[in-house]
Amino acid sequence: MKEEVINYLKAKEGGVFLDCTLGGAGHTKAILDANKNNIVYAIDRDINAIERAKDFLKDYKDRVFLYNTEFSNANSSIFIGIEFDGILADLGLSQDELKENRGFSFNDESFLDMRMNQESVLTASNIVNEFESKELYKILKIGGVGKEAGSIVNAILKNRPINSAKELSQIIKSATLKFYKGKKLNPSALTFQAIRIAVNNEFGEIKKLLENVPSLAKPQARLVVICFHSLEDKIVTSTLRSFEKGENDKISLMVAKEEVKGIGKLITKKALVPTQEEIQENFASRSSLMRVFEFN
Ligand SMILES: C[S@@+](CC[C@H](N)C(=O)[O-])C[C@H]1O[C@@H](n2cnc3c(N)ncnc32)[C@H](O)[C@@H]1O
Repeated sequence: MKEEVINYLKAKEGGVFLDCTLGGAGHTKAILDANKNNIVYAIDRDINAIERAKDFLKDYKDRVFLYNTEFSNANSSIFIGIEFDGILADLGLSQDELKENRGFSFNDESFLDMRMNQESVLTASNIVNEFESKELYKILKIGGVGKEAGSIVNAILKNRPINSAKELSQIIKSATLKFYKGKKLNPSALTFQAIRIAVNNEFGEIKKLLENVPSLAKPQARLVVICFHSLEDKIVTSTLRSFEKGENDKISLMVAKEEVKGIGKLITKKALVPTQEEIQENFASRSSLMRVFEFN
């Protein structure tokens, strides 16, 4: 959805942009190319993404600034005096992360890691091999696993220690045969998603980012968020709807109801989704949902 991102960010009109999820730098580069005066501040918690982008974006080095941190840290203390015309968050994993044998893919045979930030403490191996059954069950449910969660937890406990993503995936498959009979979805998909969400505190990160965004946005700035699954999208839409109603403003709760004003509007009432052509080019994009918000 690169073209839509550029259009919704109004990147051709020129300005200062924040890309919260640099990844393979495709969006950052497209923003830089959209107008030769554009400046992009780009964040990624994965040092590999930052290192690759230094080379990939070397021709733009006067106009792009890279930050190796979590996007929950994007606030007015790291961007002192900077306000953005457009802010982008393309949530989830990059194609590079999926291919780097870091435990994200069902067939990875290396250490069961799943950390986007290689410096963070908690790994998927900690969760799978050390957490009590109740905690494990809670993580799976929060991350979207259905009624098969109990069977998966039992199978994990029985097969500990589990050393790789491939091993975990095989254990899940055998434990969930009756739940996935005749279904297309890989039986490991939701469990992997749930563990990854917990390892990387993904919901906490999005909430904190959305809390900070209003103080980083110029008047009429656009925020574009691309979610990879409906659980994320739910958090994003409910927060953006609360922005529309002014509910985010703690002070406004102390004033009369008729004085409470929203801070902008959700431009996309329905989520934008990729075209068939895009899905064919990049199958992983099939479940993407894009939302756009414009600040007052
Ligand atoms: C879907 S990819 C972005 C792809 C990118 N838009 C492109 O054009 O290639 C998401 C990237 O965001 C990073 N990321 C995810 N959550 C993050 C967070 N909380 N803080 C910083 N970076 C994060 C991941 O490491 C990954 O590289």
